[in-house]
Amino acid sequence: MGPDPSLAYRTECHEKDESEFRNFESGALFDRVFNTYKLMHTYQTLDFVKQKHLEWANCNYFSMTMMESIDSLDELVDESDPDVDFPNSFHAFQTAEGIRKEHPEKDWFQLVGLIHDIGKIMALHGEPQWAVVGDTFPVGCKFQNSSAFGIYEPQCGLDNVLMSWGHDGNEFAAVTNEHSSCSILEYLYRVMKFNKCTIPEEGLYMIRFHSFYPWHSNGDYMHLCSEKDLQMLPWVKEFNKFDLYTKSTELPDVEHLRPYYQSLIDKYCPGILHW
Ligand SMILES: [Fe+2]
Ligand SMILES: [Fe+2]
Repeated sequence: MGPDPSLAYRTECHEKDESEFRNFESGALFDRVFNTYKLMHTYQTLDFVKQKHLEWANCNYFSMTMMESIDSLDELVDESDPDVDFPNSFHAFQTAEGIRKEHPEKDWFQLVGLIHDIGKIMALHGEPQWAVVGDTFPVGCKFQNSSAFGIYEPQCGLDNVLMSWGHDGNEFAAVTNEHSSCSILEYLYRVMKFNKCTIPEEGLYMIRFHSFYPWHSNGDYMHLCSEKDLQMLPWVKEFNKFDLYTKSTELPDVEHLRPYYQSLIDKYCPGILHW
């Protein structure tokens, strides 16, 4: 593993020293985090991921507005996160507000901050947390081994890589060939496409790969990347600094913020969506 490139981006943090984020070796939440990742790396196989793609492919589990789905994350505490022990809905607003401060003109980016973790809603609809939360990684090749291709071709593009099943956006990829070229869609990305949301491609890319820490923060899996992946990487990194360093036990006043974010939802992903 290389050094974490996002170190260079770290913004000011009021409560916690920035080097203390993503501590997976100790801390109050260590046991919970460790167990979630242990289950994930035990059960997230190629077959498991293909099965999940089939199950969630048609966005016919439930229907609700984007704001209702954010509110439903009040019920969810992410068991893989060593930095957060409060409901995920607050993390949604914290991330969005951090982006709004530095990118006041990019309303679509703020909205991505708000909705990026909404795929975690699957944990409220029967999926275990190890199949929903936490960092993602390609299946079908060795974990974090920069020379291993497994079932993939060099520079095949992340579009063609089957990621562990999680809350990020994999397009449905009819898994066409056992040995290569799967066409794939991460969950939330699929929901956005299915519902014809108009967030720009950079934003959808942030949604799709924000949990792929081995790639965007550790520089691994570059041998699978296409030109387009490399062009999009700076956007994913820019997003990551807000996703990570806005986590704070100082919770935002959601009711005060709601009207502004409702206006962004109305602009980019209005009405009742299919999940
Ligand atoms: Fe996430
Ligand atoms: Fe997040």
